[in-house]
Amino acid sequence: MSQLPAILEIGHPTLRKTAQPVDPLDPALPDLIDRMINSVLEANGMGLAAPQIGESKRVVIVASRPNARYPHAPEMPLTALINPKITPLSDEIELGFEGCLSIPGIRGRVPRHAQIRLSYQQLGSNDWVHVDWSGFLARVAQHEIDHLDGLLWLDRIEDNREIVSEAQHFAADT
Ligand code: NI
Repeated sequence: MSQLPAILEIGHPTLRKTAQPVDPLDPALPDLIDRMINSVLEANGMGLAAPQIGESKRVVIVASRPNARYPHAPEMPLTALINPKITPLSDEIELGFEGCLSIPGIRGRVPRHAQIRLSYQQLGSNDWVHVDWSGFLARVAQHEIDHLDGLLWLDRIEDNREIVSEAQHFAADT
């Protein structure tokens, strides 16, 4: 088995680049998606964006399911989003805790749109899929798509007092 790609951490310049659109029919794409899925499962992430493994491409994996890092996450099938885009469906903004595999050790309460329409392409097709997500999944989608635009959750924080250590977060969660 090949070694898992390293997950880049804050400070790496690739995390700050705008990622490039991807052709869903690109023959290199299945391998990239495989590597991303292996990485996100191994790291107990809720999602992963291709720039986090050093590929500045507009590809995201959403991998929401309850695990040690996110015990209350909703269960859903692993989904690869190609060239994903978001339209807010209301003006409602929610604060909720987020972590990021590229910012180890801390969590923060980040404002996000409560309801979104997510549009994306799937492997092997030029068609667009449209789904409406709210709550936790809307948050994961916004967090991951920010990665494609060179943004991290810390950039969205409006008050530094909303940042806590991961250990403190879990202590408060029980
Ligand atoms: Ni992240």
